[in-house]
Amino acid sequence: EKGGYEHFMLKEIHEQPKALRDTMLGRLKDGSVVLEEVDLTLEQLARINKVYIVACGTAWHAGLVGKTLIERWAHLPVEVDIASEFRYRGPIIDDHTLVIVISQSGETADTLAALREAKNRGARVVAVTNVVGSTVSREAHDVIFTWAGPEIAVASTKAYITQLEGMVMLGLYLAQVKGTLPQEKIGEIITALKLIPEQAQEVLNQEDLIKELAQSFVKVEDAFFIGRSLDWAVAMEGALKLKEISYIHAEAYAAGELKHGTLALVTEETPVIALATQRDVYDKTISNVKEVKARDARVIGLTYKGNTNMAKSVDHVIYVPETIDELAPLLTVIPLQLLSYYVSVARGCDVDKPRNLAKSVTVE
Ligand code: F6R
Repeated sequence: EKGGYEHFMLKEIHEQPKALRDTMLGRLKDGSVVLEEVDLTLEQLARINKVYIVACGTAWHAGLVGKTLIERWAHLPVEVDIASEFRYRGPIIDDHTLVIVISQSGETADTLAALREAKNRGARVVAVTNVVGSTVSREAHDVIFTWAGPEIAVASTKAYITQLEGMVMLGLYLAQVKGTLPQEKIGEIITALKLIPEQAQEVLNQEDLIKELAQSFVKVEDAFFIGRSLDWAVAMEGALKLKEISYIHAEAYAAGELKHGTLALVTEETPVIALATQRDVYDKTISNVKEVKARDARVIGLTYKGNTNMAKSVDHVIYVPETIDELAPLLTVIPLQLLSYYVSVARGCDVDKPRNLAKSVTVE
């Protein structure tokens, strides 16, 4: 059952180090990635000129991270689509297209419909799913199972983190087959990936601190999550978690885009959670943090341990262990999950079964 935890969500948050370990098990060998259920040869990949990642909700957020990884590592152009939009906008799909669908349940109606449409039009379809025997896993050409174990809470946590890990491994796999990354670089990323489960545990060990921070959100009506690049993708997941289980309106914004309109909404009443891990855009993100600080917003920063700079610009900082930037989402999402969880509890919400939501969405 809940194994001593008050809610399934908290149990599942704590299962993440194990879920991460199980999902990489047997797949990282001698400095390379082995994906048994994926069979893409160099010849097949040479034909691919376009990748679509299609999913809903939290899985779509994992896809947003996947886009950057695949573009950066495998040098393929990637578009990420919400499954319920994909079919209706006339995407250009043919036998030169790789479609990646991500679905925890493997039964989401829109995702499944997108998969079928892509297959009918000749695309190669890779599925990332958590349920063996699910419709998505049976119908895709290739499958990467996430080994998160059954996820009971409506709000996805451990499935998301393993979807991110799936995207990391798929990105590396594509780069490996195509030869777009030096073997040495792949080895480095793999070494860093292997450290992630214990680093995730380190983040979980800061639970009390995050619980305390959560108390200041009880009366909040709106919150912003900001970041650039991969931090922005994780910001979206943080905002969704807060909305769905605590019913606080939250918005994720690309940090540099705020000043193009939305900054008007930022006041001392709107806490801002600022993710700043990506080193290539770090200084730019800090400039944007200063913009919201200048509007008197309370800012909670999220960055790597050892960065003493961010504390100068924000009110509180949550630290995650240092890793390579492409893997940071695997760590930064954890404090955001815990924050939502404790805000939800403090507001007396039904954490595991938020209003209006179902675990598996089988209608379009
Ligand atoms: C939010 C959440 C949903 C699902 C979405 C897709 O916490 O869980 O947004 O991610 O309904 O579900 P799957 O992954 O089963 O296709």
